[in-house]
Amino acid sequence: MGNIARHIAIIMDGNGRWASERGLKRVKGHERGAEVVRTLTVHASNHPEIEVLTLYAFSTENWKRPKMEVDFLMRLLGNYLKKELPTYVKNEVRFETIGDLSRFSDALREQIETMKRQTRHFKKLTQVLALNYGSQDEIARAARKLCDSGEKIDAEHLEKHLESAQFGPVDILIRTGGEQRLSNFLLWQSAYAELFFTPTLWPDFGPEEFERIIEEYKRRHRRFGGI
Ligand code: FPP
Repeated sequence: MGNIARHIAIIMDGNGRWASERGLKRVKGHERGAEVVRTLTVHASNHPEIEVLTLYAFSTENWKRPKMEVDFLMRLLGNYLKKELPTYVKNEVRFETIGDLSRFSDALREQIETMKRQTRHFKKLTQVLALNYGSQDEIARAARKLCDSGEKIDAEHLEKHLESAQFGPVDILIRTGGEQRLSNFLLWQSAYAELFFTPTLWPDFGPEEFERIIEEYKRRHRRFGGI
């Protein structure tokens, strides 16, 4: 039966290229990307093993993009949350986030909190959106808290202060769009994750390829440093 796919994390890359290839504006790629987020979330909620799906929606570095694109992504996220709340309720998906939300507008933060509140009892899947998230920043903040706590300084105690710790270690880390790097995403939780890089651009990614990756993961030999 192979490895259990409990926590899957995805770096959703390639929206801009998908749009450019079609002579469309980059934001059209993000729009299509949001639809893939919904499709995969529903798919994962019906998967017997997956408990957590963490998606990298906005990194701490994404603020460097043109203001128009950043503004569009914020609006897209707000519209997505408004539109898809019934989808999350129907499929019993709990919505959560990691990352520093303080830079988002009050209205968007309010929407995010509403979505969390209204889905917090659901158990079929927890979908975590990484928003203004960066792993090094997360680890540095945890280290500061650990020092202040006066606890023993070791990996076990540091981990307790990580925001992402509540969702557990990543089993499968997927990156779409052809690049083969982690881009500051869940570095601690991915210590023993199985990595999958696919050239498929995010708007073209879907349940079929997702299932093929899970099948390959099941055949991999995970040793966690043992033999
Ligand atoms: C990377 O593509 C994608 C992002 C920076 C944003 C991810 C956003 C979405 C998938 C849509 C919005 C999500 C939700 C939940 C509403 P890129 O722009 O870096 O693509 P490129 O490498 O081809 O330029």
